[in-house]
Amino acid sequence: MSRIFVITSGKGGVGKTTTAINLAAAINSFNEDVILVDSNLTTPNVGVYLGAPIVPVSLTHVLMGKADINEAVYEHESGTKIVPCSLSVKEMEKVNPNRLVDVAKKLRKIADYIIFDSSAGLGDEAVKAIDAGDEIIIVANPELASVTDALKTLKIAENLGKEVKGVIVTRVKKDGLDMPYSNLKEMLEVPVLGVIPEDKSVRKSHVMKNAVVHTHPKSKASRAYREVAAKLIGKPYVEKESIFSKMLRKLGMR
Ligand SMILES: Nc1ncnc2c1ncn2[C@@H]1O[C@H](COP(=O)(O)OP(=O)(O)OP(=O)(O)O)[C@@H](O)[C@H]1O
Ligand SMILES: [Mg+2]
Repeated sequence: MSRIFVITSGKGGVGKTTTAINLAAAINSFNEDVILVDSNLTTPNVGVYLGAPIVPVSLTHVLMGKADINEAVYEHESGTKIVPCSLSVKEMEKVNPNRLVDVAKKLRKIADYIIFDSSAGLGDEAVKAIDAGDEIIIVANPELASVTDALKTLKIAENLGKEVKGVIVTRVKKDGLDMPYSNLKEMLEVPVLGVIPEDKSVRKSHVMKNAVVHTHPKSKASRAYREVAAKLIGKPYVEKESIFSKMLRKLGMR
């Protein structure tokens, strides 16, 4: 049976799209059938980050009732299948997010794993994306504002009867200013699925219009994303331990 993961957050700019792209790319590289869907209807970035900002048929057209979802699936040069959203404000205003549930139903017939990259906040489109999925993954940074917003999303997802798989903590820095991991874990109430370090390779990968797991496979962020992806789909996979990962283990963070 297909599984739909929704990558959501609460606070904006925490690394949802980066996470969605890299989980999809990693799952695809494990030879699994996956489709990455840009369900951030108002400020979509999947197409922008992957070099497909404008496509003839997008999710926006599907949600406007003008096209079928099968027509909006594109294959990125890396092999990952994506469904981008339109950047047009005019089209965006005509979109009906209620149709996401039907789109999800159809997508289940064409892929084993579907990843929704959601918008920030707790507005209608973010909530509709959560409602259309099965397993909710919350992305947060190690900062109080991000964690408190993540908790709100967690409650909304639980109120909708969704399974909250856990939190991926991204952009973890070594500057001593991050929220202590033990505090973060205590506040979050759900498992931490992975810890992604702050890594320059991530921004480079956006410039290169590809996932960091492809552009910089040996980078710290890539290793961390591959590990989370393997864990999510239950793939027996062991990364050769990096210095970052060793450090996390010593700090009790993995
Ligand atoms: N691990 C990382 N290391 C360094 N930079 C990162 C990392 N993850 C994300 N970024 C950077 O953070 C910024 C925000 O990332 P991203 O667009 O993925 O966040 P988002 O949560 O999807 O944002 P939005 O809420 O606007 O949709 C980008 O500039 C991205 O390059
Ligand atoms: Mg985004």
